[in-house]
Amino acid sequence: MKLSITTLPGDGVGPEVTAEAVRVLRAVAEIYGHEFTFDEQPVGGEAIRRHGTPLPTSTLDACLAGDAVLLGAVGSPDFDGLPPGERPEAGLLTLRRALGGYANLRPVVCHDALAGCTPLRAERVAGADILVVRELLGGLYFGEPRGFTTGGDGRASAAHNTMRYTVAEVERVARVAFDAALSRRRRVTSVDKANVLETSRLWRETVSRVALDYPSVALEHLYVDACAMHLISDPRRFDVLLTENLFGDILSDEAAVLAGSLALLASASVGGEVDLYEPVHGSAPDIAGRGVANPLGAISSAALLLRHAARLEREAQDIEAAVETVLRAGYRTPDIARGSGGLGAVGTSEMGQRVIEALAEVADMRHAYHAV
Ligand code: IPM
Ligand code: MG
Repeated sequence: MKLSITTLPGDGVGPEVTAEAVRVLRAVAEIYGHEFTFDEQPVGGEAIRRHGTPLPTSTLDACLAGDAVLLGAVGSPDFDGLPPGERPEAGLLTLRRALGGYANLRPVVCHDALAGCTPLRAERVAGADILVVRELLGGLYFGEPRGFTTGGDGRASAAHNTMRYTVAEVERVARVAFDAALSRRRRVTSVDKANVLETSRLWRETVSRVALDYPSVALEHLYVDACAMHLISDPRRFDVLLTENLFGDILSDEAAVLAGSLALLASASVGGEVDLYEPVHGSAPDIAGRGVANPLGAISSAALLLRHAARLEREAQDIEAAVETVLRAGYRTPDIARGSGGLGAVGTSEMGQRVIEALAEVADMRHAYHAV
């Protein structure tokens, strides 16, 4: 299969982890006989430095011309003084909207090998397996009007954002969640704040209506505050967790604790013109450039890319199996080294290399199995 992938390494640890994900994809292409091409483009702070804008037209055009986009991270303290609309993050938000992927899938799995490295009791988190489906193009992130109100002294005296959802926006993301539940444990938890917010009332009513089309899927509604608590106290009760943009941003970071590290989480933004794949972790400027960042979230994002954008399920599963193998063998980047009984910390590129070696073994085993 031929696949052209636009890579946007971005800021902080983005380039380091993206390099490993690309290496893994190249290995996949070689092992399974595919042709993947990569077109690297600037985004975020990197793009501001080089082009004066966080999302140059050339970057967006390249993204729209390819089959899928693989992004590292955006954000840099160098631009903390800029207004929201000019920061590196604004580049990512504009990109998300331009590509059109409204459903952001964030799988959260507690690998047995890492159950001891979360701050929670291992017996509570082992086996947790949640798919967060976050609405990505609506709510407070994009609602208008937004802005600052300037007082007489020229300084901001107030600020406002708008939380807005249409029925159509809720419906389409709800369908993604219910469809996903069909091939999982058939349970959707829809999270809102319907005791306070009109947008949440609309959300709840709409999701309940969509649920009628999925009689085999159990739907429960949960307020976001209660959900935050249950995620930590009883994570195994969740299967698919469906929620709006800001709640999803917050709850997915919280859910990352179940996996052992935010750096393990991958995401796919689907439903638009071109899918966008990115690890959930940010640019982590404090550890950038030191070769210690965990590339597994980026590598797992590459697996999601193969699954969703290319329908290469076998290849996606083999990358995931390789990641599992490496973790079971005890290899750990510093973020997951503590309390996990690992072999001591390895760096970013060694971790990538271990995944590639494990991938070759997984593929060999698959080959041997089919040859029998
Ligand atoms: C995420 C990030 C982004 C978001 C930031 C970098 C704009 O936190 O993908 O979760 O808020 O969506
Ligand atoms: Mg976030």
